[in-house]
Amino acid sequence: MSNPVNRRAFLSQLGASGALLAAGPWLRSIGYAQIARGPARAVMLQARTRAPFDRRVFGAFLEHLGRAIYTGVYEPGSPRADQNGFRTDVIREITELGVPVMRYPGGNFVSGYNWLDGVGPKKQRSAVLERAWNSLETNQFGTNEFIDWCKRVGTEPLLAFNLGTSTPEMAVGYVEYCNVDKGTKWSELRRSHGYDTPHNVRAWCLGNEMDGPWQMGHMPAREYGRKARDTARQIRVLDSSLQLVACGSSNPNMPTYLVWDREVLEECYDQVDAISLHNYYGNTMELTGNKSARFLAMNLDMERQIREIAAVADYVQGLKKSPKRLWLSFDEWNVWYRARGGDFTDGKLAFAPRLFEEVYNLEDALLVGGFLNTLLRQSDRVRVACLAQILNVIAPLVTNETSVLRQSTYYPFAWALKYARGTVLDLFVETETYPIAAAGLRADVAQDDQVPFIDVAATIDLPSGRACVLMLNRDLESERELQLDWRDLTPTRVLACETLTGPDLKAFNTFDAPTRVAPRTLEPPVPGPRMTFKLPARSYTVAHIATDQIPAR
Ligand code: AHR
Repeated sequence: MSNPVNRRAFLSQLGASGALLAAGPWLRSIGYAQIARGPARAVMLQARTRAPFDRRVFGAFLEHLGRAIYTGVYEPGSPRADQNGFRTDVIREITELGVPVMRYPGGNFVSGYNWLDGVGPKKQRSAVLERAWNSLETNQFGTNEFIDWCKRVGTEPLLAFNLGTSTPEMAVGYVEYCNVDKGTKWSELRRSHGYDTPHNVRAWCLGNEMDGPWQMGHMPAREYGRKARDTARQIRVLDSSLQLVACGSSNPNMPTYLVWDREVLEECYDQVDAISLHNYYGNTMELTGNKSARFLAMNLDMERQIREIAAVADYVQGLKKSPKRLWLSFDEWNVWYRARGGDFTDGKLAFAPRLFEEVYNLEDALLVGGFLNTLLRQSDRVRVACLAQILNVIAPLVTNETSVLRQSTYYPFAWALKYARGTVLDLFVETETYPIAAAGLRADVAQDDQVPFIDVAATIDLPSGRACVLMLNRDLESERELQLDWRDLTPTRVLACETLTGPDLKAFNTFDAPTRVAPRTLEPPVPGPRMTFKLPARSYTVAHIATDQIPAR
C-alpha cells in the first residue's frame, strides 16, 4: 500500500537532529530509527500510507463463559433488562464504544457446542453440561438472541463453528440456518423460530484453537486442515463469498507453532480467506521477569507473531502458486495472567460462575494501547482482530447487579474506536530506546533487543481531513517529548487530547472507586507543521487533529 517516497532520504533527514544509531532490521521494518539522545520525532506524510484499514481490527469477543452472557449481556429479571432480557446498561456502553465486529459463541466453548440447543422456543431448550468450563449452560441465549443483540449494539457478528465434537454437516447446516432465505430444511427452521429474514452473517471461524490439547476434538494439523477444507468447500456451495478463517496456532509458545499453520494451510489454503492468531500477555516472572519495562514492550511480540504467521501464509501461497493472499484474523488478544489457569477454569457445574474476572491496572491499559498501535501498523495484513473479551471475562467492562464498571483497558480501546479512521500513515519515527534481555524468559518472548521509548501510530481520514495520533510513552520515570513533523498537510486545530497516566502502574478501578484510572485532558501543543507533545511518564495519549488540506489523490 505504500507509495513511492524515498525511505532512505527520509531516514537520513531524521538522523540530522540526533545521533542516529543503527537500529536492528526489525525496528527499521516498522519505521523506527534509534537515536542516542533528544526528543522523539515522527514524520507525518499523508502521501505515505500503510493501509486503508478495516475497522474490524477493533473488534471484540463474547463467549459463553463465566458471566459474559448470563448476568452480563443477558439477565432477565434484572431492573436493567429490557423485554428481551438484554441488560440495557451494557447495550448502552457497547453501543457507545461502537465495536464493529463481535466474535461468538467461543472460544473453547464452541468446540463442544450444538447450535441447535440454543434456537427455538426458550421453554423447550435444555440445559446442558458445558464441558470447556465445566458450567451449566441453560441455552436461554443462543444464535438468534445474539444476532438481535448485535443489531441493538450496532456490531457485525463473526460466528464460529464447532469443528471439535461436531461435523462439517452441522457447520454447513448452521450457515444454511443463518443465511439461506427460505425453502430448505434449516432456513425453514429459522423461519419457524420467528426470523423470516436471513441473518446474512458474512464471516465465520472454522473452529477454535484446534492445535491445543485442551480443546475438545483436538487433532493433528493435517487432520484439522482437511476437516476445515471439507467444511469450507461445502459452505462455498451455499455461498462462495463468505469469509472463512482457518484456525492458526493458539500462541507462539505452542510446540507446533508455525508448523501447525503451515500444515493446516497446505491442506486448506485454496478454500479459506484468513488464518487466526491468538495471544495473551502478562507481567510475570516467566514472561517479563516481573519488569514493567519489558511488559510494555509486549506489543512488539505481537508484531513479530503477525509477521511470522504472515510469512507462513505467504510461503504456502508460493508453494501453491496461488493468486490469493490470505489476511490475518487476530481474533483473541489481551493481557491475561492473574485470573488464569487452575481453579479459574473450573465452573464447578454452576450457572454463570465467576471465571477469569481479571482486574486491569494502569500498566495493562498502557500495553493495550501498544497493541492497538501494532494492529494499526499491521493492518495491511490484519483485517480482523478481537479484544478478548468484551464483558466480565478478561474484559474492559464489568457488571454488578446494577451497573457497569469501565476498567482501565476500556480507555485506549474506546479512543481507537472513536478517533482512528480512514488510512494508517506509514510513519518514520526516531526515538531513544532501552534494552531488554532474553535471559531467563520463556523462549517465545526471550529477546535481546532495543525497545523504542515512544510508540506512535496515526491515521488520516481523507474525507474529513482529521488525523488521530496514538502515543505510548514507555519511559517509566520521565516525561518525553514527541515532535510531529507534518509534511504534506497542516494541522489547524486539536479537537481532543487526552492521556491515561498516573503515579501507580498497579492502580485499578473498582465499583467503589471507578475513576482511579481514567483519562485526563493533556495540554496540546499549538497546531502547526511542527507540534511537540509532552508525553507524561508511563502514559498512553490520543490526539484528534483537524488539518487544513485534503490533498488530491
Ligand atoms: O478467551 C478465553 C479462552 O482463551 C478462549 O475460550 C480460548 O479460545 C482461549 O484459550
